[in-house]
Amino acid sequence: MENFIELSNYYSIQSSVYDKVYQKPERQNDLKYISIYLCDHFYNKEVLEIASGTGYWTKKIAQKANKVMSLDICPEMISIAKKNNDNCKNIEYLTTDIFNINVQINNFFNAAFSGFWWSHIPHSKIAHFIDTLHLLLQPMSQVIFIDNIYVPGISHKVEFTDKDDNTYVLRYLKNGKKCLVLKNYHHKDDLINILSDRAKCVEYTALEYTWILRVSLV
Ligand SMILES: C[S@@+](CC[C@H](N)C(=O)[O-])C[C@H]1O[C@@H](n2cnc3c(N)ncnc32)[C@H](O)[C@@H]1O
Repeated sequence: MENFIELSNYYSIQSSVYDKVYQKPERQNDLKYISIYLCDHFYNKEVLEIASGTGYWTKKIAQKANKVMSLDICPEMISIAKKNNDNCKNIEYLTTDIFNINVQINNFFNAAFSGFWWSHIPHSKIAHFIDTLHLLLQPMSQVIFIDNIYVPGISHKVEFTDKDDNTYVLRYLKNGKKCLVLKNYHHKDDLINILSDRAKCVEYTALEYTWILRVSLV
């Protein structure tokens, strides 16, 4: 059995090589589509970006939004995001655990974005995550999630399923060591069901490798 690794540890270790994921040739069409989509939908908004990583999407959103708060648990990620986006004056940064926010940022935002984070949320924490969004965002805020579609032969395959039905995939660390990272692939109906009583699905879009879900908090 491989080693299980805490998500925050995994991303701390991998932060300096994380952006390679955005160089994969086969992903370029999806990435272009998403960039335009985010610019269109976050025009003039005050956006909270959850689990913002190296700030790849933060930069795109900041081109059109009034303001973006880039939140991530991992200080190494925040530090890279600051360097990557140091010419964007409308981005603020917050290093914190989205499940344990202890700063007062309630209700300031009217939109939120989270990229490739939904699949890392354990099933048992999804309700807490949605509650947190409600706490941090104004009512009826628009929220956009994007994440991976499972593509047989290309996506990391599931290696392990725990007692709560969370699935784990094998990843290699920079030092060559293998580890198991929680990654739950969701289907459209799952997503809409999970959110149904707390958010209204406005639009679901399936690209080749990525789904986009746009909801309005209710
Ligand atoms: C797959 S990366 C996505 C990064 C970025 N959103 C993107 O699309 O490039 C997941 C991110 O979630 C962050 N993360 C993990 N656990 C977190 C938590 N509890 N609260 C906030 N961020 C977390 C990691 O540090 C990492 O930057």
